[in-house]
Amino acid sequence: MRNGKIIVFTCNWYAYTGLETAGRKHLQYCPSVYPIKVMCLGKLSPGIILKTFEKGAAGVLMLGCLPDECYYTFGNRHAEEIFQVTSRLLRALGYPEKRFKMDRVAPGDGDAWLEKIDSFVVGLNGDQGSS
Ligand code: FES
Repeated sequence: MRNGKIIVFTCNWYAYTGLETAGRKHLQYCPSVYPIKVMCLGKLSPGIILKTFEKGAAGVLMLGCLPDECYYTFGNRHAEEIFQVTSRLLRALGYPEKRFKMDRVAPGDGDAWLEKIDSFVVGLNGDQGSS
């Protein structure tokens, strides 16, 4: 059974500064969203993401730096591989595609950060009744 939490893995650089800007501007987002800061999306693993779903997350969003602008150079490429592998595993386990996404945001762009979150939450809404 899902716990309804929407986990947003937010890299420490572009994405987290977007979250900070959103906070400074007092922008509000869905209370079910729980941002979790990681140094880089490339530090995640399919196991961590699968465990998040196993613990009942309604959805997981990986939000990081713009393509080719990862603070750790190769992190973005590694994050893309993690996303692809995890997506395949989730599909094999029967999870709808809309429950797991990856997106990117420009540094410090709080409005874009909020828009990405809202878009992900809206995408999940059609899936709220199933487990
Ligand atoms: Fe942002 Fe790597 S530091 S994706």
